Amino acid sequence: MINFINKKLIRLKNSSKVLKLIYFYHYLFHDKKLGNIGFNFSKKKSRKELVQNIIVKKNYKKYLEIGCFDDELFNHVNCLKKVGVDPMTGGTIRMTSDQFFLNNKEFFDCVFIDGLHEYHQVRKDISNSLKFLNEGGIILLHDCLPNNYFEQAVPRCQWTWNGDVWKAIVESRKSKDLDVYTCYADFGIGVIIKRPNRNLLDNNNIDSLNLKFDDYFHHHKKLMNIIEYEQLMEII
Ligand SMILES: C[S@@+](CC[C@H](N)C(=O)[O-])C[C@H]1O[C@@H](n2cnc3c(N)ncnc32)[C@H](O)[C@@H]1O
Repeated sequence: MINFINKKLIRLKNSSKVLKLIYFYHYLFHDKKLGNIGFNFSKKKSRKELVQNIIVKKNYKKYLEIGCFDDELFNHVNCLKKVGVDPMTGGTIRMTSDQFFLNNKEFFDCVFIDGLHEYHQVRKDISNSLKFLNEGGIILLHDCLPNNYFEQAVPRCQWTWNGDVWKAIVESRKSKDLDVYTCYADFGIGVIIKRPNRNLLDNNNIDSLNLKFDDYFHHHKKLMNIIEYEQLMEII
């Protein structure tokens, strides 16, 4: 029953009328009219190529995807063991990532985080994934490079939406024990490797909780540690 009500609520939140209303609210009260950053992903690697190439290069055996939707990526990934978690559709396990991690006992080599695209949930997904990551494993996060205010605004206000996943990357960049990058591919693929940080983000002036889109707009290269696909394949 609760699941049924949840599904209805999610559908309502994502209906075009509700999204339009929220868009208007953001436009009036929050958008500073900074415009587009100008990311263009059309000639960059897709998440399917990127994930599969990493799995092959590192000879990974166990893959976890959080948020599967229509299984576009999940079905494409070729890996010995695959687990897909989604409360609505797709994957292999019908529950939220929080519910899944509560009882999980398995470890994974590659985790692709693509569930609820809100900072507080993403930081929980990262911290839980780190607990179940095999030695030498990798965490990837989709949608880390929004192009404008509306693509990252919370609550969601349009269909094309990255959410504020980017804030969780900035936060992870401040950890001495995590090496964190954002690959310029498929709306921004965050990369987290459990090893000493090779490019620690200067902590002093950055409070992740109060990060604003203005900070990201003006300093995204430094904050997100953006690298090209070829660089990523060299450093992993
Ligand atoms: C952008 S889609 C995933 C797309 C898929 N990973 C791909 O690359 O083709 C996001 C999915 O996350 C799911 N989701 C939302 N909240 C979630 C949560 N708390 N835990 C796991 N999945 C969640 C949604 O139901 C939706 O299917």
